[in-house]
Amino acid sequence: MGQDNRAQSSPAQDAQTQRASGPILLAEALEKTVFMAEQPLHILKSVSLSVHAGESLAIVGASGSGKSTLLGLLAGLDQPSSGSIRMLGHALEKLSEDERARVRAKHVGFVFQSFQLLPNLTALENVMLPLEISNAGRVRERAADMLSAVGLGERMLHYPNQLSGGEQQRVALARAFVCEPDILFADEPTGNLDTQTGARIADLLFGLNETRNTTLVLVTHDHTLAQRCARKLVMNAGQLESTAGSAS
Ligand SMILES: Nc1ncnc2c1ncn2[C@@H]1O[C@H](COP(=O)(O)OP(=O)(O)OP(=O)(O)O)[C@@H](O)[C@H]1O
Ligand SMILES: [Mg+2]
Repeated sequence: MGQDNRAQSSPAQDAQTQRASGPILLAEALEKTVFMAEQPLHILKSVSLSVHAGESLAIVGASGSGKSTLLGLLAGLDQPSSGSIRMLGHALEKLSEDERARVRAKHVGFVFQSFQLLPNLTALENVMLPLEISNAGRVRERAADMLSAVGLGERMLHYPNQLSGGEQQRVALARAFVCEPDILFADEPTGNLDTQTGARIADLLFGLNETRNTTLVLVTHDHTLAQRCARKLVMNAGQLESTAGSAS
């Protein structure tokens, strides 16, 4: 598991040292350009940011401004056209797909805008999956506890198509939380939820942030959620507009 013979220090060591000394995540001059009908489309333009261990950061901005694209790069799911991303000492843009997958498995939880549950697994099995992949102990018990924590204790044996949109979203959150990642990236984690359920999810997110020092990077249109983050960045047409801390 996680055998890595490269010159870099092990992910576990990185996590420990970085937790104490931050930044846990450092992005410099990120560009993302795609070609549509042979015309370049500049989705991200020179985006730089740094996130400290244990911080909570909200990324807000208009639809189409590049938030999800940025989150995918920061989490190591996608590669930038240029620029660098350092996560827990790993230069993500220099790693192969497999190496990035290994870093993600060890350190990252991700909640997508589309929930990406496996349709032929129950809610419980979906949440058990990352624990099984990382050879964790008490897999069923931990997955069940996490589903209860997101309010789905009565829905564990349902398949995704037997769950409402908000319930599927909560399964996806439980799956991202269950491995207790160092960094949790969430794209609109409260997007489809009613106010009360959204508040419960926010409580869970900030509970992890406080008790386990989980770093949160959230993309959200939800003002209440953004206000609870220590810092807010605004995306505008592929660029970061503001680096002001939360004014409140
Ligand atoms: N693979 C791609 N190919 C072409 N265009 C893309 C690709 N991915 C994203 N885009 C475009 O880049 C822009 C930014 O997309 P992105 O999904 O990052 O926006 P967003 O800020 O997350 O929007 P929303 O709030 O609606 O989720 C959009 O205009 C989108 O059409
Ligand atoms: Mg998006």
